[in-house]
Formats: sequence, structure tokens, C-alpha cells
Amino acid sequence: MSDRIYNFSAGPSMLPLPVLETAAAEMTNYRGSGMSVMEMSHRSKVYLEIFEGVKADLKKVLNVPDTHEILFMQGGATMQFAAIPMNLMGENGSADYAITGNFANNAAKEAKKYGAVHVAASTAEGNHTTIPTQAELDLDPKARYFYYCANNTIFGTEWNYIPETGDVPLCCDMSSNILSKPVDVSKYGILYAGVQKNMAPAGMAVVIIRKDLAGHELPYTPVMLSYKTMIEKDSMYNTPPCYTIYMLGLVLKWVEENGGLTGMEKLREQRSGILYDYLDSSRLFHGIASREARSGMNVTFRTDSKELDTEFVKAAAAAGFSNLAGHRIAGGMRASIYNAMPMEGVEKLRDFMEAFEKAH
Ligand SMILES: Cc1ncc(COP(=O)(O)O)c(C=O)c1O
Repeated sequence: MSDRIYNFSAGPSMLPLPVLETAAAEMTNYRGSGMSVMEMSHRSKVYLEIFEGVKADLKKVLNVPDTHEILFMQGGATMQFAAIPMNLMGENGSADYAITGNFANNAAKEAKKYGAVHVAASTAEGNHTTIPTQAELDLDPKARYFYYCANNTIFGTEWNYIPETGDVPLCCDMSSNILSKPVDVSKYGILYAGVQKNMAPAGMAVVIIRKDLAGHELPYTPVMLSYKTMIEKDSMYNTPPCYTIYMLGLVLKWVEENGGLTGMEKLREQRSGILYDYLDSSRLFHGIASREARSGMNVTFRTDSKELDTEFVKAAAAAGFSNLAGHRIAGGMRASIYNAMPMEGVEKLRDFMEAFEKAH
């Protein structure tokens, strides 16, 4: 551990050290197979065992009901911005979007190519520091689906409730908070996540879809984006991102060994609590997100001076806390504290901020 730094990157981000160590130990010869997982045929018995094991573990950890199917799809989270409307919008359809940040906005822009987008809520006016309440959602009962982003990685806000949309299927981007707390999968039509924050190295999205929603795609939908095909072919219409799936399996074992999703939730409350408690008491640093909307994964903050923000990020990097600069469209600082961030990384960052405050 001594040569590793505390990496507060928003993604790709830290992976648990034991996961990296297992991957390293198995790198050239996976459990006596005589080859690396990277070298295996995706149709081989040894690989299919890994693949089925990962799906089973994901089903167990996220408590995925039998009504839903787990898919591994390429193109990251962004590809789902297109896949969801292509599969769910239908001809001349309309969908509700809650615009709570950059990624929800990008998803809405993409959806407009395939149907009508009705903005059910937008927090753009306050520069995305808040989350709409249920009462503030302007829901269209005829919408083909309702779309939201559960955790806004750039702005550091997170929905602390599941929107109630009646019979309109819920679609949710959970890229930056999946596996950080228990979730009632049965409430969702589709939930998905790019894996490079809390799940695995970059290269795919995990998509969990209620099976009856598949099979209604627009006729020109590429075969690789058809949920129906992906379900029928068990995510293996073509060569899947084999190694990324294997790494997800190691991460899931680590999650289980550390208390599952309730364990992850306790840790995330502890981690984010350390930083928010300090921010609330600091006279130099201020949290950016409004209190009720604060993210447990991405803590955004700033001082009153851009120059001081820059100086802080630089000094922190020199002290072994990397990637603390905020996203260019949000400014300030951001500490991304996903599942793999050790508690001492957060404690030491808080101590460093305290010392910086005293010195300024
Ligand atoms: C919430 C959210 N959605 C979508 C994306 C885009 O993910 P990808 O790069 O996998 O397309 C990101 C990336 O940071 C994200 O944080």
C-alpha cells in the first residue's frame, strides 16, 4: 500500500487493493488454466464459469428479481443514452427527463433524436446544486419512460428517494453510486451504470432491465443496442469485454466480504460524513451542493477564491491526494470517494484541509 496514493478521481477511480492483488496473482495463469483471463475464448468452459459466476453474484448482491435480466453492454454509460430511447421510445413517443446535471442533459439530447423529450424537472438555473422533490416533478402520464441520473458526478448531488411515476417505467443512470447502498431493483424498468467508478475497469455498462420492456425497439436500432438481442444472446452476441467482467466479479466478492450493500452504505455515510462535517465547520472551504442534495460519492467544495482553489489542488497533489480539481464545468474541488477509497484516505484529506485552512 505504501507506494499507492489516495486517488480521488471521479472515474476511472480506485479499485480495492485486494482486488488488484488477486488480479495480479492470477494474471498469467488463471487458477491452473495455464492462461490469463485476457487470453481465454469467451465461449470456453473456464470463461463461461467466470461469466455465470459474475452474473450470479451481481444478482445476489443487488437482489435482482427474476423479472429482470442483467446485461453487459459495451460503449460505457453514454451508449445507454441512445439505447434507452431506441428500445423504449417507440414510434412518435415521448419521454420524461429530469435534468439534474451534465450527464442527464446529454442523455436528453441524445433521446431527442428518437422521440420527444419532456423536461419533467431541471435544476440548471441553480447550476445543479439541488435535486427536485417528488412534488416538483412535472410528470406526463403518457410518457414511455421517466429518466433520471441518481448521482450527479460533476455537481456532487444525489437523489435520496426513488421517484414515484405510477405505470411509467423508471430508467436510471446509476454510474456513480451503484453498489454503494441497497437499491430496490424491482422499482426500475432499467437501471444501468458505466462500470469505471464502483464496479470495474472501464469498458462496459451493466444494464438491469425488466424483461417485458425489451422487444419494442425502433426498426433501425443497431443489433448491439437491442436489449432483446442482448437478452437472447446472454450479452454474447459478439465478444464481450471478458476481462472487465472478470474484474467486476472480483469487486463483487470484495463487496460481499465487506458487508454487502448495507456494509457499503455504512462506509459511505462514514466517509462522506467526515468531509461534510468538516466543510460545515470550516471558515475557508464551503460545500457546493445544497444540504438535502449532497452526494455520498462526490463531495464538491470550494473556497471564495479561484486562486486559492488552484493552490489547494496543487498542494494536495504534492501531498499524495490526487485528482481533487472540480470538473471544468463546475469549478472548485471535488473529492470522489467511491467504495474503494480507504477511510484513512478521507481522514487524512480532512486533516490536510484543516492544516491548509490554518495556514491560510
Ligand atoms: C453519472 C454518469 N453518467 C454517465 C457517464 C458517462 O460514462 P461513460 O464514460 O462510461 O460513457 C458518467 C461518467 O463520468 C457519469 O458519471
